[in-house]
Amino acid sequence: MSNTLSKVIIPVAGLGTRFLPATKAIPKEMITLVDEPLIQYVVREAVNAGFTHIVLVTHSSKGAIENHFDHNFELEKTLAFKDKTALLQKVESILPEDADIISVRQPQALGLGHAILCAAPIIGDEPFGVILPDVILNNESSDLRNMVLEFEKTGKSQIMVEPVPKSEVHKYGIADCLGADIEPAKSSRIAAIIEKPKTEEAPSNLSVTGRYILDNQIMNLLKVTPKGAGNEIQLTDAIAQLMEITDVDAYRLAGQSYDCGDKLGYLQATVEFALNHPELGSDFKNWLKEYSNEKL
Ligand code: G1P
Repeated sequence: MSNTLSKVIIPVAGLGTRFLPATKAIPKEMITLVDEPLIQYVVREAVNAGFTHIVLVTHSSKGAIENHFDHNFELEKTLAFKDKTALLQKVESILPEDADIISVRQPQALGLGHAILCAAPIIGDEPFGVILPDVILNNESSDLRNMVLEFEKTGKSQIMVEPVPKSEVHKYGIADCLGADIEPAKSSRIAAIIEKPKTEEAPSNLSVTGRYILDNQIMNLLKVTPKGAGNEIQLTDAIAQLMEITDVDAYRLAGQSYDCGDKLGYLQATVEFALNHPELGSDFKNWLKEYSNEKL
């Protein structure tokens, strides 16, 4: 079987309860980070990593996401008519030319593992990537790209990890790499993985950070994965099963991750991305300096 990756699954069916009331009528993935919705950052990250088929696992209330990546004839015609060329170019390049969006529904909220399984008919027998769109990375291209290259070289599934404080391990999948001190942007074999362990049961503080490159065999495992943490079908549990038949690596994040499904993480990302914005960055930085001198 080929190790070439072309398809990435982005599960977007979740109802965004952590961000209510903002997410009552709009998808959480459409919340804006500076001047683009969150979903646009992760789709660009996927395309920069080499993926060409973006598979959204979605829900009836999330039509705005598909609309964002589709043509809006009336808007484009109006911008062209008014000679707003720069804006027209921005709108037309939301989805890079060499990529396409395919949607599939997750009819019931049975967990992340179930969401991934919903995409199985589109994935076929190929290996694939998974991006959890709540997690936004500051270096949009290189970490996921590194994971793709490592998989294409070794054929080993890659799970992105980063250290978190011990007090936080109950929020994440946690990988046991037998104490290996993995350098940023390097991979090391995972010996065990567990979803949302209690602090005292966690084998390490290496948390799963929302980026995966997976061997296709996981689809068959997901079909028989029982409900786990939170009474949901967990991707982490299927990865634990996959490790019994093939090697799975932890890839250590080199960039910075932001949990944009959480209000504080979202605010931190807003500051970081605003500071690095090509047009707004320097004015925002000056304002932020003055603000912190006066008010903090
Ligand atoms: C999911 C995964 C978990 C991972 C986390 C990263 O959990 O199940 O393994 O560490 O995303 O954000 P969730 O945040 O959906 O509860």
